[in-house]
Amino acid sequence: MYLAKADRYDGMKYNYCGESGLKLPFLSLGMWYNFGFKENFENMGNMLMTAFDLGITHFDLANNYGPPPGSAETNFGRHLNMELGAYRDQIIVSSKAGYGMWEGPYGDFGSRKYLMASINQSLKRTGLEYFDIFYSHRPDTDTPIEETMGALADIVRQGKALYVGISNYNPDQTRAAVAELNRCGVRCLIHQHSYSMFNRTSERGLFDAINETGIGSIAFSPLAQGQLTDRYIQGIPTDSRIAKGYYLKKEDITEEKLNKIIMLNEIAKSRGIKLAQLALLWVMRRSEMTSVLIGASKPEQIIENAAIVKMPPLNADEQTEIDKILG
Ligand SMILES: NC(=O)c1ccc[n+]([C@@H]2O[C@H](COP(=O)([O-])OP(=O)(O)OC[C@H]3O[C@@H](n4cnc5c(N)ncnc54)[C@H](OP(=O)(O)O)[C@@H]3O)[C@@H](O)[C@H]2O)c1
Repeated sequence: MYLAKADRYDGMKYNYCGESGLKLPFLSLGMWYNFGFKENFENMGNMLMTAFDLGITHFDLANNYGPPPGSAETNFGRHLNMELGAYRDQIIVSSKAGYGMWEGPYGDFGSRKYLMASINQSLKRTGLEYFDIFYSHRPDTDTPIEETMGALADIVRQGKALYVGISNYNPDQTRAAVAELNRCGVRCLIHQHSYSMFNRTSERGLFDAINETGIGSIAFSPLAQGQLTDRYIQGIPTDSRIAKGYYLKKEDITEEKLNKIIMLNEIAKSRGIKLAQLALLWVMRRSEMTSVLIGASKPEQIIENAAIVKMPPLNADEQTEIDKILG
């Protein structure tokens, strides 16, 4: 039923994650939305196996993904029991803790108490013995960096994760976290940050910090949650993230933004590709990028997005034209 090993791995590119020995696929699949209890369970399985068949070996979770929080990890765990689990040594599974997960003072941010409790819960929900990568999901300026990074280092020592990373840390927080992990004798593997044509904050110092520290880099929401696709050009489809009330709102697509989307779509058309593919190629033009972390609601989107692996990178003229539109 599934692709033979050679086809699966020949179709995908793999990049070393910073200065580590771990390779990540050019595209990774995230489960922020469309993997919760409200969604179709069979469709999730089809998305996971479609991704794996295309050589997408990295699957990204967090404690709070759903809705409800925790349900994406539970559903992923169920699918591991059914099919994907047979390939445990051929996949990289990540999870995170940092956002509000349970009531009281120990269910949020970056204390040792929260991180230790959260990874235990995530392991239980997924049924995994260990995560390949475990992240501090967001910085916590009220907790000493020594405590948060010390907890991550202990998570590695306890065998609950093979590697650790950070997410949403600013450039100075990144430098401090990497230095503290080094002091603990554990390498910071990767930074997971938002990066897309509609969010270029990472260009203001974060890429410098990533280069200086030699860590890997994975971009989340590269399609701006679906805005950088042809999904909303004719209105709001009933099966879309906006219609489902999943974080993105119809007010986010202003007239100015829609005009940009339409112009970017024309560039994609002139190249004979889809806007989603153009947006992903644009992210992966940066040498710092190890992988681009997509979301999806159907297997067809994953197939379309993964096709960028075989496409030539954007040329200088295309990049200039895109910059002009983005302004
Ligand atoms: N670390 C963090 O703080 C953080 C924050 C956010 C996300 N993340 C991670 O990053 C992952 C990706 O984020 P994201 O889901 O926002 O990513 P995204 O790739 O920007 O958006 C995904 C959405 O775009 C639409 N889409 C995807 N491919 C398409 C295609 N070829 N044509 C048309 N529409 C397409 C789908 O929308 P429809 O559902 O409408 O079909 C899909 O749900 C998450 O799952 C999570 O793992 C991390």
